[in-house]
Amino acid sequence: MAGNRAGAMNHLFYGDNLGVLRESIADASVDLIYLDPPFNSNASYNVLFKDESGRSSGAQIEAFDDTWHWDDMVSGQAVAEVRDSPYQNAAAMLDAMLGFLGKNPMTAYLAMMAVRLIELHRVLKPTGSLYLHCDPTASHYLKILLDAVFGETKFQNEIIWSYRRWPTRARQFQRMHDTILFYTKSLEPGVFNTIYQEASESSKKRWKGKKQKVTFDSEGNRNPTLETDETSSVPINSVWPVPLIAPSSKERLGYPTQKPVALLERIISASSNPGDVVLDPFCGCGTTVHAAEKLGREWIGIDITHVAITLIETRLFDAFEGRAQFRVHGVPKDVAGAQDLFNRDDRTKKEFEKWAVGLIKAYPQAGGKKGADGGIDGLFRFGRDKEHKAIVSVKGGRNLGVGMIRDLDAVVTEQSAQIGVFLTLHNPTKPMRDWAAKAGTFRVEGFDPVPRIQIVTIADALRDGPSAVQAPLRHGSPHKKAAPERDPGAQGSLGL
Ligand SMILES: C[S@@+](CC[C@H](N)C(=O)[O-])C[C@H]1O[C@@H](n2cnc3c(N)ncnc32)[C@H](O)[C@@H]1O
Repeated sequence: MAGNRAGAMNHLFYGDNLGVLRESIADASVDLIYLDPPFNSNASYNVLFKDESGRSSGAQIEAFDDTWHWDDMVSGQAVAEVRDSPYQNAAAMLDAMLGFLGKNPMTAYLAMMAVRLIELHRVLKPTGSLYLHCDPTASHYLKILLDAVFGETKFQNEIIWSYRRWPTRARQFQRMHDTILFYTKSLEPGVFNTIYQEASESSKKRWKGKKQKVTFDSEGNRNPTLETDETSSVPINSVWPVPLIAPSSKERLGYPTQKPVALLERIISASSNPGDVVLDPFCGCGTTVHAAEKLGREWIGIDITHVAITLIETRLFDAFEGRAQFRVHGVPKDVAGAQDLFNRDDRTKKEFEKWAVGLIKAYPQAGGKKGADGGIDGLFRFGRDKEHKAIVSVKGGRNLGVGMIRDLDAVVTEQSAQIGVFLTLHNPTKPMRDWAAKAGTFRVEGFDPVPRIQIVTIADALRDGPSAVQAPLRHGSPHKKAAPERDPGAQGSLGL
């Protein structure tokens, strides 16, 4: 990648993927793209966060609004850009869809997708692959659009991701699958690593304990051979039974539409090699980048909400214990930028709060309201088994008062948390600092006690990240092991 464009490394972008792709991602620079765009399901998704028992706490954050409307400024502009592009088949197809369907939410969605698919095709290497994750709401139209952008001969597979969930009452068959459309930029995939799975019991019996090894010749013909072996495996087919993330699973972050890492591991393992660049332009809470990091790929993630970017930062921090290296673009880098985000943010200041808790690698929460979980903007766990809880309260305004620290103190008690962090853009008043100083300490055996209520400024958090907070046994915390208690009579006996 050249100039000011994203160079070799991992990158997380906050912003509209159309602008980011155009400004920051060079032509033919990406090996694999996975995209899981909003499905035009006409639903507003909410992030449901779990309470301690693993149930949804009822606290919600609106993450994104999956509702489309035709708007000449936005949808009309997207159609005009496709018409002006070198992708004339895509323009003709979009015009045909407009003629057939008219200007409505579906064509608004398809126009939004068409202009982005063109950019994704541009950034893909000639050897690259693209997987588009969708559902029956729009999969038929998206496949025709992909045929127009990539060429219908570049279509490789329709993958059915099948899962089980509680049946709903419906006068139709239960919908229990999503569709993933797999295209390549050239006729053949540049990389395709066959994934094997254990053969069925009946096949194993037929092979009588011999291993079936299947290879493909240069024309893609299947050449099964039998080898003597106790185990038997066969290449996986295009129906993938991968379980949904269980409600009680540790993997679940509470982000709507979060996909299982196992699903992305399959795609990434099949269509890239270690060191290759994987891009997810609608990366949500970061399933793709998590799987890419795990499998040693370079990665680029883009999302348009601060809650998504913060969840990813915290998720990677926890999963890779601070070792995942990546640059975050489009978010405030200094106090002036933070003030600007606060000023530009809507009345609720939610975007500012979601961004701020990410600085100390906490998970964003709904917060805001008074009540059982009121005043909780972020949360993180620490301790040997992550058995301790810290609650984060964010304030961006200038009007600060001791009542805010008192409230946080009460919430920490109410929630049986061990630490409360007051994260503030402006300096706290003396009475606030005095209250915090008197709020006691929390001690983990073998470690120095840490203040129960900690006031951290955004300036501290920008400078020190998670180590701006003292939390024993948390990666990145400046906690210290307690000095050993010395027996005066045994001074220096071990020479330590
Ligand atoms: C279906 S979710 C992706 C979920 C993701 N696969 C995961 O496992 O978490 C779609 C995401 O696209 C983001 N999004 C929607 N429009 C966008 C745009 N124009 N640019 C960047 N991100 C966008 C939304 O914020 C949302 O997080």
